[in-house]
Amino acid sequence: MDTRVSGPETFIKKFNPKEYYDSYYALDEGAMLEERTDFILRNLHEIFSSGVVKGNTLIDIGAGSAIFELLSACEVFTNIIISDFLEQNLTELKKWLKKDSNMLDWTPYVKFVCDLEGKSANLEEKEEKLRQTVKQVLKCDVLKKNPFEPLVLPPADCLIGCFCLESACKDMATYCNTLKSLKDLLKPGGHIIIQSALNGTFYYVGRKKFHPLTTTKKDIEKAVIEAGYEILKFVVKQSRSHNSDYDSLYCVHARKPCSL
Ligand SMILES: C[S@@+](CC[C@H](N)C(=O)[O-])C[C@H]1O[C@@H](n2cnc3c(N)ncnc32)[C@H](O)[C@@H]1O
Repeated sequence: MDTRVSGPETFIKKFNPKEYYDSYYALDEGAMLEERTDFILRNLHEIFSSGVVKGNTLIDIGAGSAIFELLSACEVFTNIIISDFLEQNLTELKKWLKKDSNMLDWTPYVKFVCDLEGKSANLEEKEEKLRQTVKQVLKCDVLKKNPFEPLVLPPADCLIGCFCLESACKDMATYCNTLKSLKDLLKPGGHIIIQSALNGTFYYVGRKKFHPLTTTKKDIEKAVIEAGYEILKFVVKQSRSHNSDYDSLYCVHARKPCSL
């Protein structure tokens, strides 16, 4: 069995945003969120409502077709840039921003975050706020020294990325180099929040199997420190998924030193 990390060609040919949504995000009416989305949204809510992370610009790296990861960020930032490697994902993101009749439905996630914020009556207001705050949808390739080449973006205050680096990087050396390139996108003192799964060797998107980089907490900690960040918080939660063999989820919140 080939368990090498799935490369860019595999993503271009096999990653279908609708199948991804159906595999991980589609919910029956009234159903609870899956553990992984619950984990991600609670961490983002906690970090962004703490007042520790501030500024104007936030970049979401490898967003896929998902906007839900930005629902807390739009309360803090005035300029959000969403990015992904795949045209098919950028198309889905634009559909949601334009309220296309075929857009993906993120309402349960909007409700979840509004509940966390104690504003459950305002789902439409929340969606509008996010739509107004997303100023650009850009193609990115985190494996490039400048992931937004040929664009040169002004330095950002915060970067977030969920389940992206394990998808893009073939080994821990690449993961660490990618973190270094991402650091160049940040202002001194800027924040990075990376969330993903540990010890996974595969995940399904529909019936298609993808192989991420298999990581441990130690690997990630070492890479973040070697890449030159200060770790502010590292949370690990044991968790299982019906679509993958990971055994836990992680959230690392780190900062680019002010002196750089
Ligand atoms: C498992 S999905 C995660 C999507 C979304 N962030 C989420 O949490 O559901 C992995 C994402 O990484 C993106 N990706 C893969 N290689 C990449 C690269 N070299 N640069 C940027 N994104 C990449 C894919 O296009 C895909 O959207």
